Amino acid sequence: MTQMTRVLTPPCGVNPAAALLRAGELVAFPTETVYGLGADATNAEAVARIFAAKQRPSDNPLIVHVASVAAAEALAQLEAMSAEARRWWTVLTEAFWPGPLTLVVPARPGLPENVRAGLPTVALRIPAHDMALALLRAARIPVAAPSANRSGRPSPTVAKHVLEDLGGRIAAVLDGGPTGIGVESTVLSLVAERPVLLRPGGISPEAIEGKIGPIELAQPPSADEAPLSPGLKHQHYAPQAPLYVLEGSPAAVEAALRARLEADCKAGRRPGLLVPTELASLGDVCPGTVVLAPGRRGDAAAWGRQLYAALRTFDELGVEVIYAEGVTSGGIGLAVADRLRRAAGGRIEVCT
Ligand code: TXA
Ligand code: MG
Repeated sequence: MTQMTRVLTPPCGVNPAAALLRAGELVAFPTETVYGLGADATNAEAVARIFAAKQRPSDNPLIVHVASVAAAEALAQLEAMSAEARRWWTVLTEAFWPGPLTLVVPARPGLPENVRAGLPTVALRIPAHDMALALLRAARIPVAAPSANRSGRPSPTVAKHVLEDLGGRIAAVLDGGPTGIGVESTVLSLVAERPVLLRPGGISPEAIEGKIGPIELAQPPSADEAPLSPGLKHQHYAPQAPLYVLEGSPAAVEAALRARLEADCKAGRRPGLLVPTELASLGDVCPGTVVLAPGRRGDAAAWGRQLYAALRTFDELGVEVIYAEGVTSGGIGLAVADRLRRAAGGRIEVCT
């Protein structure tokens, strides 16, 4: 069903957005990571609308957003966790909330099943974004919110991306300008013997380990095994043109890029380049190359902010092949490298 999507702006847009959420409607809103597509987490029909609007597989559970640790604890069953896991919860919520860390814990019965995709656990976070917090406080309900893209598209980092994917399918978008981090939250499960990193994101594993000691990395699921996080098994966004990630020393990557661009030019193919500013002039090798340079080499924060928008731009401009210089990990770099590798669908080349 199509509907008119209202674009609401702060501060006056917050109360109408909260009223729409309370009425069971879908409202997209900014967080510090990406835009979320919110619905009343206590209302099964509203939650079902999220899956329909996004065309999201119903076995992929949603993150529930709240404004306080007390509100999170009301949805969790911390008493079902070990004493050690309860300590991780306390330390991590104190250190990183509000912030881009999602914690998976046993769920208290009460929320509709479809929020959790039937799992016995629930994913919780407090976003570090004034407008998101104002909306959550005004709505006075927990808000289920996946990223506000259609399934299979990059997560939105500006309101325009939300409208491109979901305009006409949701009641409103609260426009808070570009999001700060640009890649999604870190998802950490606290239900096993050791904490398990299900998705790298805005908070680095080093920062988490600095607080609670070693954590485990989720292994990719084998075909006959249920994945720890259902999201891990669903195909991630890949741009329309094949994306190659080139890793290696800067000189080797530059030489490889130059050779690729020369070959593309001869073949009459229009390339796109996603490279550090140090390599932006490589676009001259093949006139017509679309060059997107998020920041200097190693500036993972700048790459995080611009990665998803860059992937959308390459699609819009219809390039035929894309080359990206691999991002080194460290801090948010691990999350950026993860999303870039997934977008490349295995086309990773090490240049020597
Ligand atoms: O930064 C973010 O996390 C954004 C903003 C809007 O908060 N949200 C977001 O949601 O990225 P989404 O739905 O795109 O990703 C949620 C991830 C999925 O991989 C999902 O499988 C996982 O969290 N997840 C949710 N509930 C889970 C649970 N109970 N157990 C394991 N994984 C869970
Ligand atoms: Mg998503």
